[in-house]
Amino acid sequence: MARPRLAILTSGGDAPGMNAAIRAATLVALAHNATVLGVEQGYRGLINGDFRPLEAHDVVELVRAGGTALGTARCPEFRERAVRDVARRRLRDARIDHVLVIGGNGSLAGAHALGDPHEQLEDWPVRVIGLPASIDNDVGTTSLAIGVDTAMNTIVEACDRIADTATAHHRTFIVEVMGRDCGYLAMAAGIGAGANLVLFREAGLALDGLVDAVCDTVAQAARRPNHRALILKSEGVEVPVEQLKAAVNARLAAAGEDAIEAELRVTVLGHVVRGGRPSALDRLMASRLAHAGVLALLDGAGDQMVAWQPGRPPARATRTAVDPRCWLVPLADVLAETQALHDGTSPQAQWRVKVFDALEGVLNRG
Ligand code: F6P
Repeated sequence: MARPRLAILTSGGDAPGMNAAIRAATLVALAHNATVLGVEQGYRGLINGDFRPLEAHDVVELVRAGGTALGTARCPEFRERAVRDVARRRLRDARIDHVLVIGGNGSLAGAHALGDPHEQLEDWPVRVIGLPASIDNDVGTTSLAIGVDTAMNTIVEACDRIADTATAHHRTFIVEVMGRDCGYLAMAAGIGAGANLVLFREAGLALDGLVDAVCDTVAQAARRPNHRALILKSEGVEVPVEQLKAAVNARLAAAGEDAIEAELRVTVLGHVVRGGRPSALDRLMASRLAHAGVLALLDGAGDQMVAWQPGRPPARATRTAVDPRCWLVPLADVLAETQALHDGTSPQAQWRVKVFDALEGVLNRG
């Protein structure tokens, strides 16, 4: 039997732990007699045929590295069938028949399209498996995606530092964190950082509601001995943070004699949150997902994602042969659930908000 040839690609926004997944996937595949190729710069490299062989010595040190050693890219052109066919011909030319895609929502949509049985070249079908990786934790059917834990730790550490200076000056800080379509990072890190208020898109507040919430928080802070407040704002809340600050200042100024004096400052953490060495949990989870994913791929699975699910598995999930926490879920189901997480119709999204509201209501009393 011909030796299987497996390509690994990382795509979309990088996430800490992608390298740990590349490392584990490579070592597992080599141990199972596959030839491994890395694809440079995600789907763009696939279209250009930018493949390079990966051996154990190329990946052993990757476990502790942030970013992705293969590079990554956003590649909207991969939505076009003709472009995917170019990629399929590149795979055929390089005799690659298995592909492991590590990425978030857009990358997994690309994986589903690449592995679509109706689009395969007659003489060279490929099988594709995805691993969830996105700091936003907005990939459906997995309880965690690679990168979320590290990103949360980075935010909490940054907030601890900001709290020091906020307390010293009796100031209110609004700290914006990534999360374009999903407020999970802000909510989870907000609890970890002891934030006084978290603004996330799922709450659906317009400018007036946001200003009310910030002004209430400022008023509460004025009654506390340290006079400071820490507010986390998710990027998905569409009002720009400087506009929010200006609107709050205007509201406070308009209060005349009853005005509360507040010094507002803004910090946008932005891409700082995507970088850095992966946490132990991200390294462990990435390694286990990659292990289960490569074995499933070599065993004939395709068009599925490996989900990290300690609790009840998603409806059409099948257990992986090697790991009780890793489940294979059809990519079509993953994408549908991701959409539901984004538009708030997913029970999981609703639970997240409910649990957050209940806990925050208690933690932030007084
Ligand atoms: O990877 C997801 C994400 O971090 C979003 O939260 C954010 O909006 C986006 O990436 C930023 O992407 P880019 O680095 O392409 O500007």
